[in-house]
Amino acid sequence: MTKMRLVYRCTQCGTATPKWAGKCSSCEAWNSLEEDVHAGESAAVARAPGMPAVPIGEVDAQFAQPQSTGIPELDRVLGGGLVPGSVTLLGGEPGIGKSTILLQLLAQWPTRTLYVSAEESAQQVRLRAERLQAVQPHLWLLPETSLPHIIAAIDQVQPQLVVVDSIQTIAHPDVPSAPGSVVQVRECAHRLVGEAKRRGLPVVLVGHVTKEGGLAGPRVLEHVVDTVLSFEGDRHHSLRLLRAVKHRFGPTNELGVFEMAGDGLRGVPDASRLFLTDRRTGVAGSAVTPTLEGQRPLLVEVQALTNKVNNGVPPRRSAQGTDPGRLALLLAVLERRARLPMGQHEVFTSAVGGVRLTEPGADLPLCLALVSALLHQPLPPDLVVFGEVGLAGELRQVAHASRRLAEAARMGFTRAIVPANSPTDTSGIQVVRVGTVTEALVAAGLSPRAAATAGSSERASATTS
Ligand code: TYD
Ligand code: MG
Repeated sequence: MTKMRLVYRCTQCGTATPKWAGKCSSCEAWNSLEEDVHAGESAAVARAPGMPAVPIGEVDAQFAQPQSTGIPELDRVLGGGLVPGSVTLLGGEPGIGKSTILLQLLAQWPTRTLYVSAEESAQQVRLRAERLQAVQPHLWLLPETSLPHIIAAIDQVQPQLVVVDSIQTIAHPDVPSAPGSVVQVRECAHRLVGEAKRRGLPVVLVGHVTKEGGLAGPRVLEHVVDTVLSFEGDRHHSLRLLRAVKHRFGPTNELGVFEMAGDGLRGVPDASRLFLTDRRTGVAGSAVTPTLEGQRPLLVEVQALTNKVNNGVPPRRSAQGTDPGRLALLLAVLERRARLPMGQHEVFTSAVGGVRLTEPGADLPLCLALVSALLHQPLPPDLVVFGEVGLAGELRQVAHASRRLAEAARMGFTRAIVPANSPTDTSGIQVVRVGTVTEALVAAGLSPRAAATAGSSERASATTS
């Protein structure tokens, strides 16, 4: 027998405490503690027969080879495909397309698959599957929320891939807690992981995310599974981005790009073209940068808008898809090193297309977009730019410069402003090397002197710093 005792567990982060409190001592969430039974050690672990230790050379690595999903963008994020016996959690906001992509996955899988629908009726799933052309003889469907029934169905159907949609809506009747509670989610996930490992069966769980963007339910869920994927995008636009947040079998920095169409999600192999489709050239406050998502170069447009504000009010700063702290730093560098009156302007920046531009290489394009907006001077339409900006206004090189330049050249850009000591092998694009932000502004046709005068004519004190 294992020792059971009552604890209070935070529904946000999963931390357990012996006493109830209004606020979680670990993640500081309010009103998030609920009763939980803490078994001294998981009963399943205690009962399982022990495995013998073996020399590492005798371990069969073949077992952990990923199997392609048949969806290239998904394979890219997973580092080749799904590994037998692995458990993957797919998180994302409601309506983003989790059920859609997983039905497509099950339909493409070469052997028998099982879709456990704990949210939608069999009829609803069938209708959706018709739109997706996923009505395949090897795809089995189980509308069920009870975990023992789900496991019985796995025994009966003997699928080679199982999807449970979603982990928050299934429950084990032995656990006296509501579906979606920390206790249920954790217990069901634990048992499914056990089944997956025992059978060498890949399992994908759907998880809903909270308003704050974290996976709902306990953080412990992330530790229980092998892989956590996050499906993002704007529900009102068709673009969807898939990332691995955690991955035991490969790198986590690869990006998958999809487009939601009438017949399901379609992979977008040429994402740069998609990100630039709505771009208008000749508009002030826009710069294009070749950024890197994992191994993948992407051309992304950065936009900025500045508005002069009246004295006294601290101007607003808003950064969408870019790092707000980084924006503050760049504004200070522009003010101090290029003597631009950024402090008198409210500033909005955005990375177009729902991309998150948080790498250091985005510093220089942000600076150029900001100054272009400030001076109402558009940047040349055939120009790309990247580079990290230091506090002294100096430019530092960023990784994989030549891959970035090659992507820009492929997309028809003819000029690039890059940090002075970036590598030299470039073809098809004219490269301008600069040492400081000020030099970059001049190279882009934005004269900081003109800018400083523009600022001082707006307000004489701009140049006194
Ligand atoms: P869904 O997969 O149900 O999202 P989730 O499971 O993450 O909640 O996706 C629902 C949305 O996708 C819905 O707004 C309709 C849209 N959609 C399409 O545009 N095309 C399609 O082929 C399908 C199946 C859904
Ligand atoms: Mg769904």
